[in-house]
Amino acid sequence: MDSILVEKSPPLSGEVRISGAKNAALPIIAATLLCDSPVTLNNIPNLADISAMERLLCSMGLETRYEREEGTLQIDPSRVRWLEAPYDLVRKMRASFFVLGPLVGKYREAKVSMPGGCAIGARPVNIHLKALEALNIELEVEHGYVVADGSAMKGGRVHLDFPSVGATENALCAAVRAPGETVIENAAREPEVTDLADFLAAAGAKIEGQGSSTIHIQGVDQLSVDSYAIIPDRIEAGTYLAAAALTGGTVQATHCREKDLTAFLADLESAGCQTRIEPNGGGLDNITVSRPGPIEAVSEIVTLPHPGFPTDLQAQMMALLCLAEGTSIIKETIFENRFMHVSELNRMGADIRVEGNSAIVRGVDSLSGSPVMASDLRASAALLIAGLVAEGKTEVLRVYHLDRGYEKIEEKFSGLGARIERVKPAPRSA
Ligand code: UD1
Repeated sequence: MDSILVEKSPPLSGEVRISGAKNAALPIIAATLLCDSPVTLNNIPNLADISAMERLLCSMGLETRYEREEGTLQIDPSRVRWLEAPYDLVRKMRASFFVLGPLVGKYREAKVSMPGGCAIGARPVNIHLKALEALNIELEVEHGYVVADGSAMKGGRVHLDFPSVGATENALCAAVRAPGETVIENAAREPEVTDLADFLAAAGAKIEGQGSSTIHIQGVDQLSVDSYAIIPDRIEAGTYLAAAALTGGTVQATHCREKDLTAFLADLESAGCQTRIEPNGGGLDNITVSRPGPIEAVSEIVTLPHPGFPTDLQAQMMALLCLAEGTSIIKETIFENRFMHVSELNRMGADIRVEGNSAIVRGVDSLSGSPVMASDLRASAALLIAGLVAEGKTEVLRVYHLDRGYEKIEEKFSGLGARIERVKPAPRSA
C-alpha cells in the first residue's frame, strides 16, 4: 500500500485550485438515477470514491463515461436493470446508501445493503428510514438489506430528529418524484445538500427552501438536465488554508466559496490568521490566508451542523492548534468517535487530552516526525499537515484514505512548496 512521506517544509506559499466537492458529487451522481435522459456532470473530482459510485451505477446497468482529467462524468440513466446496491459495494463506501432515495423515488422499489459503522462512529441510518416512511414508503430490513416498496408513495411531512446530511438527501430524492407536497423539517443546511437540491431543480424538480431548515417539494413526473457543475470542495479548501496557517505561509485557495467557510475562517482569524477574499466570477472566490504572528489558542471550537464549524475540518484545526501559544478546547458534537488522530498527533509530540467529547489541546513548541496512521480521511489530512512542521520526516500510512477525498494531493502540496512524495511499496521478490 502507498504511503506519503512529508518532510519539514518551508512556509507554504502560492495558489491552489480547489476541486469539485466529493460530498456534493456523490449524492448528485446517485440522483442521476432519477433522470429520464443522459446527464453530464462537470467539476467532478478524480477520486477513488467517485469511481466507487460510478461502479455502483454500472452494476445496476447504467452506462457511464468518466473523463477523469477533464472532470466530467456522463451518465445515461435510461436503462436500469437491477434496483439493488449490494453489500460488497456499500461496505466499501457508505455513500452508496444514497441510491436508496433515488431508486425508490423513480422505480418505486429498491434493495440496498445497510452500511456498517465506520472508524468515526456507529453511523446508523434510522433517520433516513424514518424519513422515507413519512413518504408512505414501506421498508423492511431483511438479511442486512433495506427492502423498499414505494408503490403507495406520496408526499408528506418529514421531520428529521437531527439535521442529518444523508437523510435529508435521501428524503429529497424520493420526494421529488412523490405525488403531492412534501415538507422536510429540520433539514440539513450543508452546501452539499443545497447543491443536490439545485441539481434536482435544474432537472425540473419543484423545490423551495434549500439551504434553510425547511424544504418544500412538489412531486413531478419527469426529470432531465443536460449538464450540471458541482460546487467547490469547502473541506479541501479548508485543509490547504489550515496548512498555510500552520506553516506560517500565505496561500490562496482559488475557485472556492467564502460563504461555505465562514465559521472555519472566523476560527482561523481567532487563531491569529489574516484572511482576504476576492471574487473570482461566477459566484466563486479566491481566499487567501496568512499568519503574520504566532498561532493563538482558541478558547472553544465546537463542531456543529452547517453553518457551524464543520466536523470534517476538526482534525485539521486540531493540527494547527497543537503549536498554539496557550490551551485550546475542541468539542466534537457530530460524531461520537472522531478523535482517532489525537493519539497519533501525541506520538508526534503534541499535548492533547480527550475528556468526553472535548479535546484539550495544550500548545507545544515543536512536533517531531514519525510514522503515523489514521483510520479516516480527514484525520489522515491532519497528520499530513502536522508533518509539514514536524522536525524530520513523517510517513503517513494507509494513504488510500487520502485518495478517497483529496485530488492530486502530493501535486497540490508540492506546488505550494511542501516537501512531500508518494512512496510505492517495493515489489515483492519472487
Ligand atoms: C455527511 C458527510 C460527512 C460529514 C457529515 C456531517 C458525505 C458523503 N459525508 O455524512 O463527510 O462529516 O455529513 O457533516 O456527505 N445519524 C444517525 N442516524 C441517521 C443518520 C445520521 O444517528 O440515520 C448520526 C450520525 O451517526 C452522526 C450524525 O447523525 O453522528 C451526523 O450524520 P450525517 O449528517 O447523516 O452525516 P453523513 O450524511 O453520514
